[in-house]
Amino acid sequence: MNIRGKKAIVVGGASGMARATAEMVVREGGQVAILDLASSKGEEAASEIGGGTRFHPCDVTDFAGTEAAIARAADELGAVHFGVNTAGGGIAKRTLSKDGPHSLDAFRKVVDLNLIASFNIARLQAERMSKNEPDENGERGVILMTASIAAFEGQIGQVAYSAAKAGIAGMTLTMARDLGSLGIRVLTIAPSLFHTGLTRGIPKPMEDGLTKDAAFPKRMGQPEEYAHLARAIFENPMLNGSTLRLDGGQRFAPK
Ligand SMILES: NC(=O)c1ccc[n+]([C@@H]2O[C@H](COP(=O)([O-])OP(=O)(O)OC[C@H]3O[C@@H](n4cnc5c(N)ncnc54)[C@H](O)[C@@H]3O)[C@@H](O)[C@H]2O)c1
Repeated sequence: MNIRGKKAIVVGGASGMARATAEMVVREGGQVAILDLASSKGEEAASEIGGGTRFHPCDVTDFAGTEAAIARAADELGAVHFGVNTAGGGIAKRTLSKDGPHSLDAFRKVVDLNLIASFNIARLQAERMSKNEPDENGERGVILMTASIAAFEGQIGQVAYSAAKAGIAGMTLTMARDLGSLGIRVLTIAPSLFHTGLTRGIPKPMEDGLTKDAAFPKRMGQPEEYAHLARAIFENPMLNGSTLRLDGGQRFAPK
């Protein structure tokens, strides 16, 4: 689909990879609603991005509140063609440590934040997209979720995060098949380490250590490189049902 004139809901858009994606959409002539925590820089990001970008506060782990925020954003935009979700994160806890077994509650919270919230957002965006008139190629919209290469090579202490991100990767093809007859495509990007709010302040020597196993380039990714792939995903109708690694050939070692 061509981005010009299209409407995007970008969840987590106050910072990092989603913010860069929101900027890209506006630059290419689309319109954006940013959903992010009330405590985030959403309002500031919306005014800096411009192009009529509006901010809607929302905590994606409040599933009913997210439904209301998506409804408000979609009503205001008048349609939804592109749904981008990067809100997420993890904890560092082993399956068993000297404090005892991993707390189930902590595990569930990470799954709620990454997996259940991504599904909640995707199902609601899909409903809105289904109401669009198909374009000349029969397309109604594109849903983009965010996993991590930890979905495939989780490091020690990433058990909850890996499970949640593997869940996102696992549902991508199924969701694409569910929504294919409606002309809605579903993709996931699995980044390696990227320079975003989440990883701000990692000193250069540590970055060098963390990226030494990459094939090329041996560095952290930039949010604009995520946005670049997000654009290709939106524009290329043959991309569907896949989790695309964006990692410079990096494979995480156990630690
Ligand atoms: N940065 C990395 O190295 C990296 C690598 C792999 C995967 N990821 C994934 O990327 C996503 C994070 O994106 P980023 O790296 O651009 O980080 P970021 O911190 O710059 O942006 C994340 C945004 O999500 C928002 N957010 C967090 N929790 C939320 C919630 N409960 N409800 C609504 N909004 C919420 C934050 O306020 C923030 O604006 C996560 O899903 C993370 O697992 C990041």
